[in-house]
Amino acid sequence: MYYIQLYLVLLSFTFCVCSSVYNYNGGIKYIQQNSPPIYPYKELNTLYEARNLEFGFPSEAERQATLRDGRYNPDSALPIDVDVYYTSPKALPIIFMTIPRFGKGIPYSLAYVTGVPRPNGTELQPYPSYDWHRSHGKDCEGLTSVCRVHIDPCGRMWILDSGEIENEQFCSPQLVVIDVATSRLLHRYRLSEDLYKSTVSRFVTPLVDITDPPPRGRCRETFVYMADATGFGIVVYDVQKGESWRIENKYTYPDPDFSTHIIAGERFELLEGVIGLAVTPLGLGLPRSLYFHAFSNDAQVAIPLEIINNSSLWDGGFGSAIEHFNLLGKRGVQCAASAMTMNGVLLCGHYEPIGLFGWNIRTPYTFNTRFLLAENPIKLQFISGLKVITSPWGKEEVWLLSNRLQKAFTGNINYNEINFRIMRCGVEELLQGRPC
Ligand SMILES: *[C@@H]1O[C@H](CO)[C@@H](O)[C@H](O)[C@H]1NC(C)=O
Ligand SMILES: *[C@@H]1O[C@H](CO)[C@@H](O)[C@H](O)[C@H]1NC(C)=O
Ligand SMILES: *[C@@H]1O[C@H](CO)[C@@H](O)[C@H](O)[C@H]1NC(C)=O
Repeated sequence: MYYIQLYLVLLSFTFCVCSSVYNYNGGIKYIQQNSPPIYPYKELNTLYEARNLEFGFPSEAERQATLRDGRYNPDSALPIDVDVYYTSPKALPIIFMTIPRFGKGIPYSLAYVTGVPRPNGTELQPYPSYDWHRSHGKDCEGLTSVCRVHIDPCGRMWILDSGEIENEQFCSPQLVVIDVATSRLLHRYRLSEDLYKSTVSRFVTPLVDITDPPPRGRCRETFVYMADATGFGIVVYDVQKGESWRIENKYTYPDPDFSTHIIAGERFELLEGVIGLAVTPLGLGLPRSLYFHAFSNDAQVAIPLEIINNSSLWDGGFGSAIEHFNLLGKRGVQCAASAMTMNGVLLCGHYEPIGLFGWNIRTPYTFNTRFLLAENPIKLQFISGLKVITSPWGKEEVWLLSNRLQKAFTGNINYNEINFRIMRCGVEELLQGRPC
């Protein structure tokens, strides 16, 4: 209760500081721009919020030991991604969160949210277990640093581990696949040296595409696309054949003109390549493509799956299959994590206005054809994790994690306010403008 009250006080405080522009009104927030229209923000269901991450430890002694030797620094953790796994129609799903080791002091890099309240937020626990994370790069059988994960329709969690901590490459980047129902290790794939650039690459996003999904399929025809944001490339992994190849060209590169990021008035410099990945859903009758974009770039690009999933076309280096890349258009602003709904709406979090945008893949890609689905300068700065999932009962939902990345970058996180949130809305509700 105290927690919620304090949150409201902080919220109204924030609105006051912004003077007459914002006002807080009985639970509904309005933004008044220079002139009308006045419209309420879209309220998503908040399932997790925290001032700071609260790491649970196997014992108090271990917690103290990690604080003493620097394996845990409470001021260094930044959650990036969310994914969920449903076990029963009535209960909330298991909510997973990633906390990459961009710096030192992160006790574990992949966690699930418990129901235990703590002073700074709900307690986390390590996943699959504490042992997987405890070596901090010394043991490559574990997990070193996880930026994003993808739980596929077959109940497998694909964990993309960059293998580095604070730009030091401790282990090869790897994909670790866990069967979520049993927490069993199903598969591990380490990237060979020709697929990444040691100490330069940072693999940030995995996207899993299955062409034989359940209930009829057997989850064998699986491709994984991996975004290397700082090495400016994409690695394709044909799981059935056990083969991989790397794609790098002008479309996977950042554009220096979009290296200045301004979120909620705070700016930072970041020149990063591919971050957002999505594929045309099955069953739309459309040719299927991988949709991708670089973080520091306003271009949206697509490449047909039949090209990107054909290993024989990628031997020619920078020019390989370049004529098949389709520059769909430019949005004029940056956009971070992306995801696609089953009916072909590509979602992405934009900076201005701060919110979640959609774009129908059947239309031209421009600044004006994108549409605002949910705006909220407080709760949606910055959408760093974004998933569209279909529950086992057929309900399609958007899940997102927001984290105030710009404050983390500039060292300005205010731990007295809510910094990290996980939110949800049904896709239908979101697209039709109904309450979540
Ligand atoms: C809450 O977060 C702040 C900021 O990192 C930290 O100083 C404090 O120790 C945390 N409180 C608890 C109980 O972990
Ligand atoms: C490769 O892409 C083509 C075209 O979308 C598709 O027909 C084929 O099934 C894909 N191969 C695999 C193994 O996914
Ligand atoms: C891959 O591309 C090569 C060269 O164009 C082509 O001969 C081959 O049929 C393609 N393979 C598949 C599975 O489409």
